[in-house]
Amino acid sequence: LKVIHLKEIDSTNRYCYKLGKEGKRNLVVIADIQSAGVGRLGRRWYSNYGGLYFSILLDLKEYLNNRKDSIGKLNFIGSISVYETLIEYLPENLKGAIGIKFPNDIIVSADKDKKICGILSEINWDYKFVVLGIGININNHIPEDIKDTAVSLWELCKREYDRFEILHKFLSRFKDNFHLEDKEILKKYEKYSKTLGRYVKIITPKEEITGTVFKIDYGGVYLSTFEGIRHINVGDCIHLR
Ligand code: BTN
Repeated sequence: LKVIHLKEIDSTNRYCYKLGKEGKRNLVVIADIQSAGVGRLGRRWYSNYGGLYFSILLDLKEYLNNRKDSIGKLNFIGSISVYETLIEYLPENLKGAIGIKFPNDIIVSADKDKKICGILSEINWDYKFVVLGIGININNHIPEDIKDTAVSLWELCKREYDRFEILHKFLSRFKDNFHLEDKEILKKYEKYSKTLGRYVKIITPKEEITGTVFKIDYGGVYLSTFEGIRHINVGDCIHLR
């Protein structure tokens, strides 16, 4: 994958989307700053200097066989690869604290469930490409209003890190994980998941559902609730106990 480094852009996802429509493929775009970083569910993603903000542009046919659950699969590969990258940087006492929270947040649960990484992928069926966007808090300052829910590697380890070294570690994990069988991807995801087995509340754009998570696949979480089994693919997840 060819890496394009930009000083500033509105959003690396938006930029890859444009390139995707122009027919470009197999690119990684990284930006030092995003002036309009986008998060899931239409939210914004703070992207001040020091964080790692990048997007990967891939061909949907070539890599993901045009599958209906391509986005889910790509998100899983992305989140297990971020997990495997970050765990190498954490001190022993924090290695057990990091994990994946449904759907694809990487959290550090030592102090609440603070988020260190978010993933937003987008698919274009007409032009047949996917964009996997990843934001990781590395050396960046966490703004006051999200201090309660976000954490950076700097805060955890009290030292600065080379963002490009982390990007390259990630890309090598990503490449390896990409070639795994679905069975193995799911096994890793379940192993790294902080949501599996938990009693949670999922807040979807339409409703709030509470229950125990007994399975997770590319299509979402399976909750065992009072009203029976629910399979939910979108929403925010709160670990209740
Ligand atoms: C989330 O809401 O958790 C997803 C956040 C995704 C942020 C990344 S940063 C790089 C890429 N470009 C964007 O505008 N968003 C993603």
